[in-house]
Amino acid sequence: MDTIQKNLNYKKYVIDSDLRYFKPHASKIEKTFAETIYSSLNRDTKYIDSRFFYDKKGSALFEKICTQPEYYLTRTEIGIIKSIQAELSALVDCNFRLVELGSGASIKTRLILDVFAGLQDTVEYFPIDISEILTESSEQLLLSYGNLRITGIIDTYEGGLEFLKNYDDKKNLIVFLGSSFGNFSPSDGQAFLKKVNSTMRPGDLFLIGLDLVKDTQILESAYNDSKGVTAQFNLNVLSRINDELDADFIPKNFAHHSFYNKKDQRIEMHLRSLVNQSVIISKSHLVLNLKRDELIHTENSYKYTIHQIRNLLEGAGFYINRIWLDDDDAKYFSLTLASKA
Ligand code: AVI
Repeated sequence: MDTIQKNLNYKKYVIDSDLRYFKPHASKIEKTFAETIYSSLNRDTKYIDSRFFYDKKGSALFEKICTQPEYYLTRTEIGIIKSIQAELSALVDCNFRLVELGSGASIKTRLILDVFAGLQDTVEYFPIDISEILTESSEQLLLSYGNLRITGIIDTYEGGLEFLKNYDDKKNLIVFLGSSFGNFSPSDGQAFLKKVNSTMRPGDLFLIGLDLVKDTQILESAYNDSKGVTAQFNLNVLSRINDELDADFIPKNFAHHSFYNKKDQRIEMHLRSLVNQSVIISKSHLVLNLKRDELIHTENSYKYTIHQIRNLLEGAGFYINRIWLDDDDAKYFSLTLASKA
């Protein structure tokens, strides 16, 4: 049966022979941005979901965070990937495709594609991302790789994984890098891992990058860089709400506030109101009253021990093939390769 007939809920866009996208016809009935903001701010403990950081400006600021000296995560993970390229090429044969949760034109994606390109005449890459940015990153990758065929799935991770499950019999290396998993709540994280596991068939592989518990000062500097890029990233969500929901936040009335919560093993980011203030968010039909020093919680970034990583993955039905750490004494970051138990 043709792929497209098996995935009737998706519309297929063929750009050329190397590039096509699938996008759901109609997204499930999800709350709008305005409704979500209303319910997360119209309460005593106020929060803004961290997925709203990533408009165009926020995504660019995040890229900039990744190059800050204090933000060790990106360069450490890149170092691990470089050091395991040879091992990976022994694990994936010509029947594998690369599936990435989140779409990258990033150096990390390229390092893994290089492994495939050394083994296969034609490399298949399936990025899954809710953002249309996927189309831009795919086009950039095609400029660098002559033998790449990209099938982008513009959908939620869950939707994209479900799509993949029904797609074909090719083996998948599914990668989820950058400790993005750490931004899920523990319950959402567990549900997500179970979903990945249920998508996989025997022989498929899952590679996940997770940040490790470490000295509080190192963690806190990574989220309070000296150039203030993380602060800009945090505050940008207010500008996004201003632009898209017709609100009147004054960003200079807020301060970036980020610290390590040792008990819950997570970096917390908040926006602290510097004054007593009222903010109108027109499209959410909300007048937000904030007291001086009141916090809006904007992100959690969980950190793990190796023992917890094992428990997390095994609890979701995985068998752990390998855990790699950075090669120096620091042991700052981990990459885990797992298959279906
Ligand atoms: C995307 N995510 C893994 C980043 C993190 O480290 O939690 C987002 C970020 N927030 C502040 N700095 C970076």
